Amino acid sequence: MEKITSLAKRRGFVFQSSEIYGGQNGAWDYGPLGIELKNRIAAAWWKEMTQLHDDIVGLDAAILMHPRTWEASGHVENFTDPLVDCKKCKTRFRADQIPEENIAAKKCPECGGELTDTRKFNLMFKTHIGPAEDTASVIYLRPETAQGIYVNYKNIIQSNRMKIPFGIAQIGKAFRNEIVTKNFIFRTCEFEQMEMQYFVKGGTDEEWFNEWRRRRWAYYEKLGVKMDHLRWHQHGPGELAHYAKDAYDIEYLFPMGWRELEGVHNRTDYDLRRHTEYSGKDMQYIDQDNNSERYIPYIIETSAGLTRNVLMVLCDAYDEELVASEKKDGAEGSADDWRTVLRFHPSLAPVTVAVLPLMKKDGLAELAQDIRRELKEDFATDYDQAGAIGRRYRRQDEAGTPFCVTVDYQSKEDGTVTLRFRDSMEQIRVPKAELAARLRQEIKTYKRIK
Ligand code: GAP
Repeated sequence: MEKITSLAKRRGFVFQSSEIYGGQNGAWDYGPLGIELKNRIAAAWWKEMTQLHDDIVGLDAAILMHPRTWEASGHVENFTDPLVDCKKCKTRFRADQIPEENIAAKKCPECGGELTDTRKFNLMFKTHIGPAEDTASVIYLRPETAQGIYVNYKNIIQSNRMKIPFGIAQIGKAFRNEIVTKNFIFRTCEFEQMEMQYFVKGGTDEEWFNEWRRRRWAYYEKLGVKMDHLRWHQHGPGELAHYAKDAYDIEYLFPMGWRELEGVHNRTDYDLRRHTEYSGKDMQYIDQDNNSERYIPYIIETSAGLTRNVLMVLCDAYDEELVASEKKDGAEGSADDWRTVLRFHPSLAPVTVAVLPLMKKDGLAELAQDIRRELKEDFATDYDQAGAIGRRYRRQDEAGTPFCVTVDYQSKEDGTVTLRFRDSMEQIRVPKAELAARLRQEIKTYKRIK
């Protein structure tokens, strides 16, 4: 994880928030490569969930919601972690994450000092809206995006003529006052979720739950994730959230071990029933195709962390390998050396193609700039003319750029360029007029080789 954190900072994927002030715990900033990666992961999920499903539509609800929402959802009452503090070293722990013997003996696992009693700590960030800081002005930063969907489900049925079963997808920020934030961007206080809520008739919920488990697993497969680094974990009775009848996590083998990446939950009719109760509004679905039968739908939820997916994709892509230095038309090469390479799927890579003139002189730079200008319309591009070509390839490998186009003297003569593949480091010659089509085909047919 240290190597990934350091690469992420060095190459502008992720920076510590407010670093010049010593950093802000639980918050991170996404740099130029990081925001591109995050946007592409979000776009892949959005395409999968909306474009490829006729029965799912999108939504972007506000982060600030009426405070009654969180009473109805059960978060005010139940969204708590058990907390203990060490009176000596002042370290704060989640009581469920340290050995039971330490809790029983009230002994700090770090320094042996005395622990406080366990108390419940609500994870929601509370603030005030308007100038008065009293109980009437309390408002919360949403701890999940899901509730914005539930409170809009009737609006969406009416405006978009949706019929059950159907889904609503949303990507957005969520906030939790996490007691323990470590492992880089894995668990943070400010993060993003990609959630889809699928509304079904009670009685069909188990079938749909299994179907969504199948679809979400297939999604990661399609994304090219190492499938032996993924597994299912079913929540036991003690783990189930207050709203869930059944829940499975997709876990990923991060450098610190197996951890949750995404949850698939059967939330039953809990949420819509509670919103009916707390808002006084009828949340029943009226089935026009079945004698206007009325019922409160069940909800199958797929809930993935976007920022956690960024970490997963970084970990999954990270590789180091010993390679022979690449020589190019007499450019200097040295002994065997190591390269760090991010083997992103080309559709997720922050830069898809880098254009590199072999030399700055003799019109090669101008020709390379022209090629880049043409590719720009369709691809995320980079241009680099500084340093030896081998070193430039390494820089692109480290940023995860799947394709490099090198412009050399032959390019001036016959209009061909070198297309270099990140994973295999293979180089082929391609007429520059065919470059865009070739890249599109390579992206579509990409198979990870390592
Ligand atoms: N709406 C259901 C829900 O929020 P969750 O299991 O609490 O369920 C879903 O969260 C996903 O959100 C997790 O699988 C994880 O990927 C992400 N997530 C949750 N808390 C997070 C945090 N503090 N930092 C980063 N990601 C988080």
